[in-house]
Amino acid sequence: MGRVYCQNRTEPRKTGRLNFHPLSLTRMQIIEPKSPAEFDKYYNLRYEVLRKPWNQPLGSERDEGDDTSLHRMILDEPNGKTIAVGRLQFNTNKQAQIRYMAVADGYQGKGYGRKIVGALEDIAREKGIRTIILQSRENAVKFYERNGYEIIEKSYLLFDKIQHWLMVKKITTD
Ligand SMILES: CC(C)(COP(=O)(O)OP(=O)(O)OC[C@H]1O[C@@H](n2cnc3c(N)ncnc32)[C@H](O)[C@@H]1OP(=O)(O)O)[C@@H](O)C(=O)NCCC(=O)NCCS
Repeated sequence: MGRVYCQNRTEPRKTGRLNFHPLSLTRMQIIEPKSPAEFDKYYNLRYEVLRKPWNQPLGSERDEGDDTSLHRMILDEPNGKTIAVGRLQFNTNKQAQIRYMAVADGYQGKGYGRKIVGALEDIAREKGIRTIILQSRENAVKFYERNGYEIIEKSYLLFDKIQHWLMVKKITTD
């Protein structure tokens, strides 16, 4: 995949959870991690956001599905800091699953998560996927609802603490 540059919004938001002036005129890249260095950054953000706060060991941020899934990340320019990551896993040839969505502390609520979800949905459409499912942490349900996902059911507790909700979005119009 080529590098895609996105301009952040420059107008203050009128609605939504936060009213903020985003980092105007900064540029970010949505990339597919490929080199070992890029994958290190990718997995490191997963660990920092999704595992470390629950005292989980290094390595717990990866699973056997990583090799067969597609990955996207957003890098800040010009410092190359990883600010958002997400993975698209193919469950069948018609259904995919978004997993391991994480946005770095200090960058949350600025539209980066939405960019990653959109990029993963674009890939899914290109591959003929009709439905995307995901397991949302309780704190992220509203985020996914804002991105068009609907709750199917309450699902499982991660680390005996984090309630998850199974959600779905149909991504084709037929
Ligand atoms: C959940 C997460 C991926 C969302 O990414 P983000 O960059 O913070 O979200 P965005 O800025 O793209 O938000 C998109 C929309 O969802 C809303 N939203 C995001 N997080 C929300 C929250 N916790 N509660 C309510 N609304 C939320 C935003 O207000 C925005 O609404 P809009 O449609 O009015 O613009 C990110 O906050 C994160 O990494 N959280 C910690 C880890 C986590 O819970 N990951 C999900 C695992 S399932």
